[in-house]
This record gives sequence, C-alpha cells and structure tokens, in this order.
Amino acid sequence: MKKTIISAILFFSVFAFSQQQTTDQKVEILLNKMTLEEKIGQLNQYTGDNSATAPITINSNKKSEIKKGLIGSMLNILGTKYTRQYQELAMQSRLKIPLLFGQDVIHGYKTTFPIPLAEAASWDLTAIELSARIAATEAAASGIHWTFTPMVDISRDPRWGRVMEGAGEDTYLGSKIAYARVKGFQGNLGDVNSVMACVKHFAAYGAAIGGRDYNSVDMSNRMLWETYLPPFKAALDAGAATFMNSFNDLNGIPASGNTYLLRDILKGKWNFQGFVVSDWGSIGEMVNHGYVKDNKEAALASITAGSDMDMESNAYRYHLEQLVKENKVSVALIDDAVKRILRKKFELGLFDDPYKFCNPEREQRELNNPEHTKAAREIAAKSIVLLKNERDILPLSKGLKTIAFIGPMVKSKRDNHGFWAVDLKEVDSTYIVSQWEGLENKVGKRTKILYAKGCGVESKSKEGFADALLVASQAEVIILSIGENFNKSGEAKSKSNLQLPGVQEDLIKELQKTGKPIVILINAGRPLVFDWIADNMPTMVYTWWLGSEAGNAIADVLFGDYNPSGKLPMSFPRTEGQIPIYYNHFNTGRPSINEDKVYKSAYIDLPNSPKFPFGFGLSYTTFEYSDLKLSKKTMKNSEFISVSVNIKNVGSVKGEEVVQLYLRDKVGSVVRPIIELKDFQKISLNRGETKTIQFTIDNQKLSFYNNALEFGSEPGDFDLMIGSSSADIRLRDSFELVK
Ligand code: BGC
Repeated sequence: MKKTIISAILFFSVFAFSQQQTTDQKVEILLNKMTLEEKIGQLNQYTGDNSATAPITINSNKKSEIKKGLIGSMLNILGTKYTRQYQELAMQSRLKIPLLFGQDVIHGYKTTFPIPLAEAASWDLTAIELSARIAATEAAASGIHWTFTPMVDISRDPRWGRVMEGAGEDTYLGSKIAYARVKGFQGNLGDVNSVMACVKHFAAYGAAIGGRDYNSVDMSNRMLWETYLPPFKAALDAGAATFMNSFNDLNGIPASGNTYLLRDILKGKWNFQGFVVSDWGSIGEMVNHGYVKDNKEAALASITAGSDMDMESNAYRYHLEQLVKENKVSVALIDDAVKRILRKKFELGLFDDPYKFCNPEREQRELNNPEHTKAAREIAAKSIVLLKNERDILPLSKGLKTIAFIGPMVKSKRDNHGFWAVDLKEVDSTYIVSQWEGLENKVGKRTKILYAKGCGVESKSKEGFADALLVASQAEVIILSIGENFNKSGEAKSKSNLQLPGVQEDLIKELQKTGKPIVILINAGRPLVFDWIADNMPTMVYTWWLGSEAGNAIADVLFGDYNPSGKLPMSFPRTEGQIPIYYNHFNTGRPSINEDKVYKSAYIDLPNSPKFPFGFGLSYTTFEYSDLKLSKKTMKNSEFISVSVNIKNVGSVKGEEVVQLYLRDKVGSVVRPIIELKDFQKISLNRGETKTIQFTIDNQKLSFYNNALEFGSEPGDFDLMIGSSSADIRLRDSFELVK
C-alpha cells in the first residue's frame, strides 16, 4: 500500500495535467517530453509470463526494458498481482508512462462462454453483447486493459481451424455480431469494467487458400469490400479502439505492410483514430513472405503502411531509430503511431491511476460472481443447435429410470472450455461443469445414469465397445457424446479431414443394433462431416464447445427446460470435397436445378446442397409463417418498404424462432447472390401465441459494391424471402426499385 502511494506521488510529480486540458493536448505535452527512443518504446509489445500464444522470438530482459521506458504494452500477464508488479516497473521509468496489458479474452475470462462460432449460433445479439460485457468485467477486474477480440473474419471454409473464433460465413450476421461484441467489451471505455476491443484480423484472413492457416489470400477488391470488410466496418462503427492486422498476404502484399488496407482504407477512408497492433511476429514474418529482405525492411514497410504497434517481432525496437536517422522514416510517422497509443492510455484513465485495474478485492468478487455463471448457462443453452429429432426422442422425459451416458466426451472437462480459453493457472477444473455432472445435476437421484466411455476420441481401439453395449442394454435411452477434441480447432489447427476421428462412428453403429433410442451429441469447434450419422440416426444435437456451464446447458436442452433455438452460422458440408461451401453464392450460367447434373454446375457424385444449411436449427415446437405483407411493391431509393409477417407457435411448448429475411437482386451490373440474409429477428412465443413482426427494406439493404467499388443500389426487381433457414423459405414476395 505504502509503495503504491509513493509511486502515485512520483507519478503525479512528472505530469502536471489539468482537468481543462483535452486528451489531445495532454498527449502533445507528453510527446514533447519524449526522446525518440522512448517514443519507439511505446510501439513495442511483448509477451509476459503466462502461456505464450505463439513461439517466443525474443529473449531480452523485458523487465529492465520496461524500467527504461522501452516497452509500451505486454500481453499474457494475468491477475492484479502480476499486472501491478509490471506496472510498478513502468512507474520507475523516466516518464512513468503506464503499460497496456493485452490478452486474448476470446470467449470469457474465468467464466467461459461458448466459443464464438457457437455463440453466433444463438443469433441472440443481446446475449452475445452480455457475454462480452461479462468477459470484460472479469478481465478488467484481473488487471487487463485490452482484449484481442472480436475476430470478425468471415470464413466459408471449415477446414480453417480458426472458424471457431468467428461468427461464421455470413457478412450480415457477422457484422451484427461484431458490433454487439465491441459494444459489450468496451461498454463506456474508461469505466473500470471495460476493456478495449481489438478487431481482427485485418483483413481477409478467413479466406486463406485451402483453409490452411496463415496461407495467402487472393480475391477481387469487390469481394473484399462486399463480403470481408463489412464486419470490420461494423466493429469500427461500434467504436472499436484498436485493430489487429493479419498474417496473410492479400493479393501479394502481406497485411502487416499493406498500405491499401491500413492507410488507405482503415485510417483513410474509414478515418480510424485508434491504433493498429500487428499480429504476433507478423511484421518479421514479411521476411518469410519474401516481401522484405530483413527485419529492418520489415519495420520500414510496416510503419509506413500503418501498423502502429509491433507484437513480438522486435522490428520496431531495433530498427526504427536507425530508419529515422537514415531519413527513411519520418519522426512525424512515429509520432502519429505514438499519439494513437497514448490517447488510448489516457482514455482508459491510466494516467490518472496506473493501478486502476489492479484491485484484488474487486478481482475476487468479479471472478466469483454467480450472475456470470447464470448468464454463461443461459447463453450456452441458446447456442446449442438441434439438428435432427425425428421420433421426438427429445426432450427426454424426467420420468426415465435409466439412462446410458456413453462416449469419450461425457466426462471431459477441459474440452468444454474450448480453444482460446484463458489459461488461468489458478482456475481448477471443478469450475467447468462436465456433461456428466450436468446430467447428474439435472436428474438427481430420480434417474440412474450409467456410464461407459466406449472409445477414445482418436484411438482406433474398440476395447470399450463391450462395456458400452452392456450399459446400453440396461438403459431406456442412450445419450452418446462424441466429436473432436477442443484443441483440434483454433489457431494453426487446419484440417483436411473433418470426419469424426477414431472409431466413434463404429461405436454408433454398434449401439444402433440395440434398437434403443439414441441421442447423439456432437462436440466440435467447427462444422464436422458426419454424413452417415445424419442419414441414419434420428436425433442429433450440435453442442460445439459451450464453456464452463456446458454440462448444465446441455442437460437443460436434453430435458426441455430450455427449448433449443440455435441456428447454424455456417453451412455444414456433406464431404470435404464441397468446401468452400456457402449459401449466398452466385447462380452461374448453368445452375443445377433439382439436382440436374447434365452440363450443369454440379458435382456428379453428390448434391450441391450442404448437409445442413446456413440458418438451420430445429425446435421442440413448430412455427407457422403467414400473412406476409409489403407496404408497397415499388420503392425509390430514398424510400423504404415495411414488411410484416405473422409467426405462430403451433406446437405444444414455448419456443424461440429466428425469423430470417433474405433478398435476391435479380439483375445487377455485377452478378448478385441467389439469396442473401438482410435482416433477422429472434422472438419468443408461448404455445399458441402469434406475433406480427416488422422489417424495413431501405436502400442500404439493396446496395452492393460494383466493379468500380461504388456502393449503391441499382433499379430493378428484387425477390423477398422469409424463412426459418436459408433453405427453408416459407413466404415469398417481390418488389421493384425504381429511379
Ligand atoms: C493470433 C492472434 C492473437 C495473438 C496474441 C496470434 O498468434 O493470431 O489472434 O491475438 O496471437 O495471442
């Protein structure tokens, strides 16, 4: 305590800022006091003691560098105890500029929420914002100022392991979610419960060729603007404080040194006032790309292009000063980067109190907040997607006497946390509710639950089959929990084979012979390929990785305490050969209609359609769509059309439906997708209840980028479709846009 007071006094003695000064004035005053070396110091970020999230490239003495004011930010330092220790080092530097602590808080901090792809399946923007808010509250209480989230990369390729971090394949849904996540993390930036968001990875990282991580991206500018950039823009509109660039090259220019992306678009056209951090080592990796010859050239390319902070490349630290001396980099360029970073430190309130986020009592309280656990359970349940329920095996009856709970995922804890869970060494695994525990919590002593592992996730051994068959023979219902391990998706986890690993499918085939009802739970961080199961098993639930409350949430859905409402945010392929697969494709000159394959754009050995389409997910109840009404059938681009539709719950239980509005622009100066999501609403309906919901069609919804990169609408006919998924259109109409 004493030490803190002393450092606070020392701290304030260096800066004499007045309340009247604006942040920009304070930044200027400080900048004028800084040496070039100190300025460059602000542009360096290094990893700390916690688990590194990539290979560490630097072995300098970071602590002494911080004391010299040569490091502006650290990542992977968690907990108020440690962040305080590091901040105290910064307070020993000449100008006492506080450090920024960054961390990948991707889907929760201590309380983990579903992996982002799963959460996207909830289509519940309020829930998504809340999960980000809670993650921010916990992270901020633990000393973190800045999360490297949200990842807003659109991806149409489930081989890419990082699909788990994003919101899936659709630009509209992805943009809405990007906005909600930034709002959730940042709250009112400057509050003690808020952290800065970092929108990543700028840009087009999700289109890596072949789904192989870090791979090149080659796409038209039109596609970039139309499909890949809008979620970034939405995040910026939500006030995102920072951006991270991406590892890939885009049309031959690595993103870290890409002037078009960073300077022309982000800082130019979009007028982004925050700062850009590189991805881990991505500045130095431009040498491997063959874009620059060494780290010095990498520093030059990167600062020129607009990357403000160097994460772990050591390029700025060791080369920028020399580049200034050689007149290759202007001080003004460095000043601009430094000012952007300092401004954020001021906005966070770190110059008022560098230990603002270092309160251990608050940390204790927020990291053990039961409200957070409750929200995690609810959001996890909302993220579950019911893929098949043919004989109404679900929901299970609470009167069951015996259930066989079989499979390699039943008792796993760590898997439920998912990839990119924060590695909190002090968090023990009892904090994660396994699927077994969730079921036990649900049925209590009422129902006997029998367990058999059956097989491993990846092992080829069938030794456990006999046990599985034995417990299955004693039960009324079998629940089988299978999938791929949590660490088979995520960064650097691209896969060419998306089938269920090991002998899991063989186990299903054996259990099927018992003739007992089987509920299959599929756990994964991406769309898997499970064609045989989908064709042969009556009941399937996609549970992704749902976070610390996974077990309870799954039990809630299995027993109908929560009626599933999730809808797929990505198309699920029949086989890997269909990838990339996405619903909003163009028509081609030879479209295959009703599976016609003769000289058609089709695979001769399988349908074009996915196994499960974008926007698909079942409920325990049924919704009837009727009375589609458009306020008019022609509109000018200054006008709008009101669309109303009635949705009735005609089933026997309360449920939620995601009502999806799609459009098709029939003729364009560039070809347009056959169907495109343009709006949606998630509504809750009691049994027998009807709601009228309203949508608005305005010019924005009809606009797109033409080949000249002009954004706007073109007069002509539009089809309007309202449905329960992209492939389950219930009502149609059309309208015309006139000049
Ligand atoms: C990832 C980023 C992440 C960073 C810091 C990189 O390898 O690509 O998404 O934020 O590491 O952990």
